[in-house]
Amino acid sequence: MSSIRWHWSLGARKLPATPEHVRIAGVLRRGFEAEAENQNLGAKAAGSPVYLPGWARQVHPRSRHHEQMPGLSEEDVDPDPISQFLSWYEYAPCDAVALVTASPQALPSGRMVLLKGVDKSGFVFFTNYGSPKARDLAANPRAALLFFWPPDRQVRVSGWVAEVGRAESERYWRTRPRPSQLSAWASRQSEVIESRTVLEERIVELGSRFPDEVPCPPFWGGYRLIPTSVEFWHHREDRLHDRLLYERTQEGWALKRLSP
Ligand SMILES: Cc1cc2nc3c(=O)[nH]c(=O)nc-3n(C[C@H](O)[C@H](O)[C@H](O)COP(=O)(O)O)c2cc1C
Repeated sequence: MSSIRWHWSLGARKLPATPEHVRIAGVLRRGFEAEAENQNLGAKAAGSPVYLPGWARQVHPRSRHHEQMPGLSEEDVDPDPISQFLSWYEYAPCDAVALVTASPQALPSGRMVLLKGVDKSGFVFFTNYGSPKARDLAANPRAALLFFWPPDRQVRVSGWVAEVGRAESERYWRTRPRPSQLSAWASRQSEVIESRTVLEERIVELGSRFPDEVPCPPFWGGYRLIPTSVEFWHHREDRLHDRLLYERTQEGWALKRLSP
């Protein structure tokens, strides 16, 4: 149930979960549990993998519209991949994106972040500059972003990552609600913490330390991923999917079609 609600809540600004959505989510969940139970009881007992029913993917009411949409053609897409991304984004906003970095030892690591800005030069997200992802980026400033509009659209971006300027981080910081500002101060992101109480006590202390405006912490700010390649994937019938890849060249962008 929670994952079904979550897909809707991603687009919540434009697509609130209506009572009808909640009802359908309940039907899907009950059907899913029943089918999973029927199909997998034996498998569980035998220690085999548990397979998910195919229809469980169809969770985002808006995404179903993609199926009726024409495919991707070289003639119709925008010559600029960021403008093309924005046309997909405007159709179905998707602000959570998987960010993949790699450590100096080439150990890959993925996690979700919120996409907070897209402009001509790239994709902006904010985080703790002392976090593991920030350490990866300091050593290896290349990363990938993966967007997914269930069940049938995907965008893969890869490129170089640079910190946004201090002024840009502070501008965004001022739009954050006070509790999220205090929690950014309280969190030594991804470090082991003794208990939740420790965190909550820090919030109380920070509240007294910053009774009015909460300044932007020096260890917190934004990054911009400047793409060198962007691939748009769109589901088509019979697995003959459309894949268009933009690669940055000296002159601009080269567009290629990839095999599905
Ligand atoms: C939907 C979603 C959005 C998130 N957005 C952010 C974000 O914008 N910035 C951030 O630092 N962490 C965000 N997180 C938490 C990260 O996924 C991750 O737990 C955290 O940044 C620590 O990652 P690291 O240890 O790889 O540095 C988000 C998690 C989820 C599930």
